[in-house]
Amino acid sequence: MAPTTKSRSMSERPTDTHDTDAAWKAWGERDPYFGVITDERFRRDRLTPQVLETFFRSGEAHVRHVMSTLRQHVQPGFKPRRVLDFGCGVGRLLPAFSALGAEVVGVDIAEAMLDEARRNCERLRTGPVQLVLSDDELSRVEGHFDLVHTAIVLQHIEPRRGLRLIERLVGLLAPGGTAALHLTYAKTVHAANYGAPPAPAPAPPPAEPPLWQRLLVQAKAVPVPPPGPSPVPGSGDPEMQMNPYPLNDVLFVVQQRGARRLHLEFSDHGGELGATLFFAVPGP
Ligand SMILES: C[S@@+](CC[C@H](N)C(=O)[O-])C[C@H]1O[C@@H](n2cnc3c(N)ncnc32)[C@H](O)[C@@H]1O
Repeated sequence: MAPTTKSRSMSERPTDTHDTDAAWKAWGERDPYFGVITDERFRRDRLTPQVLETFFRSGEAHVRHVMSTLRQHVQPGFKPRRVLDFGCGVGRLLPAFSALGAEVVGVDIAEAMLDEARRNCERLRTGPVQLVLSDDELSRVEGHFDLVHTAIVLQHIEPRRGLRLIERLVGLLAPGGTAALHLTYAKTVHAANYGAPPAPAPAPPPAEPPLWQRLLVQAKAVPVPPPGPSPVPGSGDPEMQMNPYPLNDVLFVVQQRGARRLHLEFSDHGGELGATLFFAVPGP
């Protein structure tokens, strides 16, 4: 269902910080379509009208699948009036959601992604689409939604932060609203451990600067540089983290919001094991 976003610069380094935001801002400015679907066809310098059509067709197919799954397993005849697409990128899915007759809100952390999404919605003459800059409170998102959707986004966000975002997202569901939330939860490379990464080795003590530098620093001659971001291996692409989420915690959030049942669909993007959770919350 959801296409892969695997890239050479992909890393499983979990962090505690918001450095993924900087990476996504860089993707938005440097190579937004490839950042969304890491397929060489979608590199910035290769985009043609035909390539763009292929890109948006993949979005139509995705939305068709989401809607048919929701109608089949969650709410027969479901027709959303207000849709939130969290991490909308360049708007690959927005025209298809809009074609359902819904008012659509796309949220993203990268201004350049939102700018591109705006241009795409204008070019494709979608219905009403609002594009909103994200933050951890989703503070600029107004009102409630009868469909909250996210695909190939949470995997790129550090899970403790992502879990809080999931709480906010399910909190934005209107009574009786439905959700389709995609996240990754394990990696086949860690199959011996049921997908969980081995416990990290204790961090080595920080390396001492050489004696000459310590002496100069003591004499206040050389400022010690702060530790910089770790370099991306290989290409000049920004980093793209892949983070597995603890499904237990996610299920807890969903059940606490009142969902009684859940339809789950697995995904496997090059060994990154994922799940899309389809569910509804109680009606009025
Ligand atoms: C791989 S793209 C997927 C785009 C879109 N969901 C799609 O399927 O076409 C991931 C998107 O998530 C956005 N993103 C990453 N971290 C985010 C955050 N903390 N809040 C909102 N969006 C975020 C990125 O800027 C990027 O546009």
